[in-house]
Amino acid sequence: MPDLKKLQQVNIALKKKFKDKNLVFGYGASDARILFVGEAPGAAEEREGRPMAGNPAKLLNQLLRSVGIDKKKIYLTNVLKYTALKTPTPKEIKSHVPFLKEEIKTVGPQIVVTLGNMALNGVGLRQPLDNIHGRVINFGHYELLATFHPVSALRDPEVRSLLETDFIKLKELLKTKQVA
Ligand code: URA
Repeated sequence: MPDLKKLQQVNIALKKKFKDKNLVFGYGASDARILFVGEAPGAAEEREGRPMAGNPAKLLNQLLRSVGIDKKKIYLTNVLKYTALKTPTPKEIKSHVPFLKEEIKTVGPQIVVTLGNMALNGVGLRQPLDNIHGRVINFGHYELLATFHPVSALRDPEVRSLLETDFIKLKELLKTKQVA
Protein backbone atom coordinates (compact mmCIF):
# COMPACT_ATOMS: atom_id res chain seq x y z
CA MET A 1 0.00 0.00 0.00
CA PRO A 2 1.35 3.46 -0.82
CA ASP A 3 1.79 5.74 2.09
CA LEU A 4 -0.48 8.72 1.40
CA LYS A 5 1.02 10.62 4.29
CA LYS A 6 4.44 10.12 2.77
CA LEU A 7 3.21 11.49 -0.55
CA GLN A 8 1.84 14.51 1.29
CA GLN A 9 5.20 14.88 3.00
CA VAL A 10 6.89 15.04 -0.39
CA ASN A 11 4.52 17.85 -1.34
CA ILE A 12 5.11 19.66 1.95
CA ALA A 13 8.87 19.41 1.38
CA LEU A 14 8.40 20.80 -2.14
CA LYS A 15 6.39 23.73 -0.76
CA LYS A 16 9.17 24.48 1.70
CA LYS A 17 11.88 24.34 -0.91
CA PHE A 18 10.03 26.30 -3.62
CA LYS A 19 8.18 28.75 -1.35
CA ASP A 20 7.65 31.51 -3.86
CA LYS A 21 6.28 29.26 -6.65
CA ASN A 22 2.81 28.18 -7.62
CA LEU A 23 3.22 24.41 -7.46
CA VAL A 24 1.32 21.75 -9.36
CA PHE A 25 1.74 18.40 -7.62
CA GLY A 26 1.51 14.89 -8.97
CA TYR A 27 -2.01 13.56 -9.43
CA GLY A 28 -3.80 10.26 -9.80
CA ALA A 29 -3.95 6.86 -8.21
CA SER A 30 -1.48 6.86 -5.34
CA ASP A 31 -1.14 3.08 -5.71
CA ALA A 32 -0.74 3.23 -9.52
CA ARG A 33 1.16 0.47 -11.24
CA ILE A 34 2.09 2.90 -14.02
CA LEU A 35 3.49 6.34 -13.34
CA PHE A 36 4.00 8.93 -16.09
CA VAL A 37 6.55 11.71 -15.74
CA GLY A 38 6.12 14.89 -17.79
CA GLU A 39 8.31 17.96 -17.87
CA ALA A 40 6.70 20.99 -16.24
CA PRO A 41 3.24 22.44 -15.80
CA GLY A 42 2.03 25.46 -17.74
CA ALA A 43 -0.77 27.98 -17.30
CA ALA A 44 -3.50 25.40 -18.07
CA GLU A 45 -2.12 23.01 -15.45
CA GLU A 46 -1.90 25.83 -12.91
CA ARG A 47 -5.57 26.59 -13.57
CA GLU A 48 -6.61 22.95 -13.25
CA GLY A 49 -4.23 22.25 -10.38
CA ARG A 50 -2.97 19.00 -11.89
CA PRO A 51 -0.40 17.89 -14.46
CA MET A 52 -1.34 17.63 -18.14
CA ALA A 53 -4.26 19.71 -19.29
CA GLY A 54 -5.58 20.74 -22.69
CA ASN A 55 -4.48 19.17 -25.96
CA PRO A 56 -1.46 17.19 -24.61
CA ALA A 57 -3.82 15.63 -22.05
CA LYS A 58 -6.31 14.77 -24.80
CA LEU A 59 -3.59 13.02 -26.77
CA LEU A 60 -2.33 11.19 -23.70
CA ASN A 61 -5.86 10.02 -22.87
CA GLN A 62 -6.33 8.86 -26.45
CA LEU A 63 -3.08 6.88 -26.28
CA LEU A 64 -4.06 5.35 -22.95
CA ARG A 65 -7.44 4.31 -24.35
CA SER A 66 -5.81 2.84 -27.46
CA VAL A 67 -3.79 0.43 -25.33
CA GLY A 68 -6.54 -0.29 -22.81
CA ILE A 69 -5.17 1.61 -19.82
CA ASP A 70 -7.71 3.17 -17.49
CA LYS A 71 -6.65 6.79 -16.94
CA LYS A 72 -8.05 6.63 -13.41
CA LYS A 73 -5.49 4.00 -12.54
CA ILE A 74 -2.38 5.93 -13.47
CA TYR A 75 -0.33 8.51 -11.59
CA LEU A 76 0.94 11.56 -13.43
CA THR A 77 3.62 13.98 -12.34
CA ASN A 78 6.20 16.41 -13.71
CA VAL A 79 9.90 16.88 -13.06
CA LEU A 80 9.41 20.58 -12.38
CA LYS A 81 6.42 21.31 -10.21
CA TYR A 82 6.08 24.92 -11.35
CA THR A 83 5.83 26.73 -14.65
CA ALA A 84 9.28 27.52 -15.99
CA LEU A 85 9.60 31.00 -17.44
CA LYS A 86 12.54 29.92 -19.58
CA THR A 87 14.15 26.58 -20.44
CA PRO A 88 15.16 25.11 -17.09
CA THR A 89 18.89 24.88 -16.48
CA PRO A 90 20.45 21.49 -15.61
CA LYS A 91 20.92 22.87 -12.07
CA GLU A 92 17.24 23.74 -11.80
CA ILE A 93 16.24 20.27 -13.01
CA LYS A 94 18.68 18.72 -10.55
CA SER A 95 17.06 20.54 -7.66
CA HIS A 96 13.83 18.65 -8.38
CA VAL A 97 15.34 15.20 -8.79
CA PRO A 98 15.33 14.13 -5.11
CA PHE A 99 11.64 15.06 -4.82
CA LEU A 100 10.74 13.17 -7.98
CA LYS A 101 12.68 10.12 -6.84
CA GLU A 102 10.91 10.17 -3.48
CA GLU A 103 7.54 10.60 -5.18
CA ILE A 104 8.20 7.60 -7.46
CA LYS A 105 9.44 5.52 -4.52
CA THR A 106 6.35 6.37 -2.50
CA VAL A 107 3.86 5.47 -5.25
CA GLY A 108 5.93 2.37 -6.01
CA PRO A 109 4.84 1.72 -9.62
CA GLN A 110 5.96 -1.29 -11.63
CA ILE A 111 6.42 0.86 -14.71
CA VAL A 112 7.57 4.46 -15.12
CA VAL A 113 6.98 6.12 -18.48
CA THR A 114 8.97 9.28 -19.07
CA LEU A 115 7.58 11.79 -21.56
CA GLY A 116 10.32 13.81 -23.22
CA ASN A 117 14.00 14.48 -22.56
CA MET A 118 13.63 16.43 -19.36
CA ALA A 119 11.61 13.62 -17.79
CA LEU A 120 14.29 11.16 -18.82
CA ASN A 121 16.96 13.32 -17.18
CA GLY A 122 14.69 13.72 -14.17
CA VAL A 123 14.81 9.98 -13.43
CA GLY A 124 18.58 10.02 -13.84
CA LEU A 125 19.25 8.97 -17.44
CA ARG A 126 21.48 11.21 -19.49
CA GLN A 127 21.16 9.32 -22.76
CA PRO A 128 19.51 10.96 -25.76
CA LEU A 129 15.85 10.00 -25.96
CA ASP A 130 16.18 9.22 -29.68
CA ASN A 131 18.55 6.36 -28.80
CA ILE A 132 16.51 4.69 -26.12
CA HIS A 133 12.83 5.46 -26.61
CA GLY A 134 10.57 2.43 -26.67
CA ARG A 135 13.13 0.24 -24.89
CA VAL A 136 12.38 -1.25 -21.53
CA ILE A 137 15.14 -0.51 -19.05
CA ASN A 138 15.25 -2.17 -15.68
CA PHE A 139 15.64 0.44 -12.97
CA GLY A 140 15.69 -1.88 -10.00
CA HIS A 141 12.33 -1.18 -8.42
CA TYR A 142 10.61 -0.47 -11.71
CA GLU A 143 10.87 -0.83 -15.47
CA LEU A 144 11.48 2.40 -17.33
CA LEU A 145 9.98 3.06 -20.73
CA ALA A 146 11.14 6.35 -22.19
CA THR A 147 9.09 7.99 -24.88
CA PHE A 148 8.37 11.37 -26.43
CA HIS A 149 6.33 14.18 -25.03
CA PRO A 150 2.75 14.59 -26.27
CA VAL A 151 3.46 18.29 -26.91
CA SER A 152 6.23 17.33 -29.40
CA ALA A 153 3.94 14.72 -30.94
CA LEU A 154 1.26 17.35 -31.51
CA ARG A 155 3.81 19.45 -33.42
CA ASP A 156 5.42 16.67 -35.45
CA PRO A 157 3.56 13.74 -37.07
CA GLU A 158 6.74 11.64 -37.13
CA VAL A 159 7.15 12.00 -33.38
CA ARG A 160 3.47 11.18 -32.97
CA SER A 161 3.92 7.95 -34.86
CA LEU A 162 6.95 7.03 -32.69
CA LEU A 163 4.95 7.83 -29.57
CA GLU A 164 2.12 5.59 -30.75
CA THR A 165 4.57 2.76 -31.42
CA ASP A 166 6.07 3.19 -27.95
CA PHE A 167 2.61 2.91 -26.42
CA ILE A 168 2.21 -0.45 -28.19
CA LYS A 169 5.47 -1.46 -26.45
CA LEU A 170 3.90 -0.30 -23.19
CA LYS A 171 0.91 -2.52 -23.89
CA GLU A 172 3.24 -5.49 -24.48
CA LEU A 173 5.12 -4.69 -21.28
CA LEU A 174 1.83 -4.53 -19.37
CA LYS A 175 0.94 -8.01 -20.55
CA THR A 176 4.14 -9.33 -19.00
CA LYS A 177 3.39 -7.49 -15.76
CA GLN A 178 -0.37 -8.04 -15.71
CA VAL A 179 -1.01 -4.56 -14.46
CA ALA A 180 -3.39 -1.70 -15.39
N1 URA B 1 1.81 19.88 -19.03
C1 URA B 1 2.38 19.17 -18.03
O1 URA B 1 1.82 19.01 -16.96
N2 URA B 1 3.57 18.63 -18.26
C2 URA B 1 4.21 18.77 -19.40
O2 URA B 1 5.30 18.22 -19.51
C3 URA B 1 3.60 19.53 -20.43
C4 URA B 1 2.39 20.08 -20.21
